[in-house]
Amino acid sequence: MTRAAGSRELRHVVAVAHANIALIKYWGKYSDARGEHQAPATPSIALALAELTTTTSLTRIGGGADVIRLDGSTARGRERGRITDYLQLWRDHGLIEGRFRVESASNFDRSAGMASSASGFAALATALSAFVPGGLSTQRLSRLARLGSGSAARSITGALSALPAGRDPAARLLVPAEKVPWGMVVCQVDAPRKKTGSRDGMRHTKGTSPYYAAWLAQCKRDYNSLLAVLRLTPGSGSAGQPRARVNLSQAGPLIEANCLTMHACMQAARPALLYWQPATLALMQATAQWREQRHCVYFTIDAGAHVFLVCERAALPLIARLARRVPSVVRVIPSLPGGPARIIDAQ
Ligand code: DP6
Repeated sequence: MTRAAGSRELRHVVAVAHANIALIKYWGKYSDARGEHQAPATPSIALALAELTTTTSLTRIGGGADVIRLDGSTARGRERGRITDYLQLWRDHGLIEGRFRVESASNFDRSAGMASSASGFAALATALSAFVPGGLSTQRLSRLARLGSGSAARSITGALSALPAGRDPAARLLVPAEKVPWGMVVCQVDAPRKKTGSRDGMRHTKGTSPYYAAWLAQCKRDYNSLLAVLRLTPGSGSAGQPRARVNLSQAGPLIEANCLTMHACMQAARPALLYWQPATLALMQATAQWREQRHCVYFTIDAGAHVFLVCERAALPLIARLARRVPSVVRVIPSLPGGPARIIDAQ
């Protein structure tokens, strides 16, 4: 029997969330007189990807400990700690009670470092929200997802979403999935497991990169510029409104420049955070060549070696074919925009 979210008899819930890739990047934690917060120092804009999903089921259990299984194996160490701490945070906020069995699986390689914490924490937060009597607003849910992983806040709203900088921001939907005129080609490259995750990488960049202050200022300008290209203002969204075709040849140079500015800032940290592999650079150069051949395509790269190519929806198959020809590209996934995180079963 399917029960309503928030019902006290609810025992088992399944939620799905899409990974998202930032076009304007979050890199750095917000801090004030009270210290550093699990909140962004830079505002970001991201696209959720229909093809990259995490599915998480939550089942109430007895006993004194949560059970965490990731991609079919029992989670251990740091990975387990991050999720049990997150469940405890919901208990400490008085939102849920008791212990849970968490089973989470992604349809993409989590160890490859492709935005899995975004879809992972968004799916987990969405499943948890079903157990909260009275439910939670999307804004509150996005804030709670952010406490698991900053980028997860944007997977709650999905599609093209923005996350402002500040002490306690929530993501907001800018353009719903069906109205986003772009898609993304995910290019997974041959790379060893990365040594520094985003959380440690941000701390290290903030502490040692001489370009950190310049990055914060430039990212804010890039965010406002992309909103202007999208014909949106910092406080507004276009959900529900019919919209003109957004010009990728105006947005694309901003997307690439913002990514390169973030990487320049990371690379100037001491010691350097250098996430690229030879195939990363090969794809960056190929993208410029494809543009010379009149293909409208732009790259972005997160804290990893993989490359994400932004193009018009109709160009996805062609750009995917071109990307497959680049040596050391191990997997290519063309994807349309994905929607918000959602509950798919509740019993
Ligand atoms: C480079 O959201 O993984 O992908 O908040 O510490 O969990 P935490 O960091 P995370 O950082 C994402 C960094 C990024 C850029 C982005 O997604 O905006």
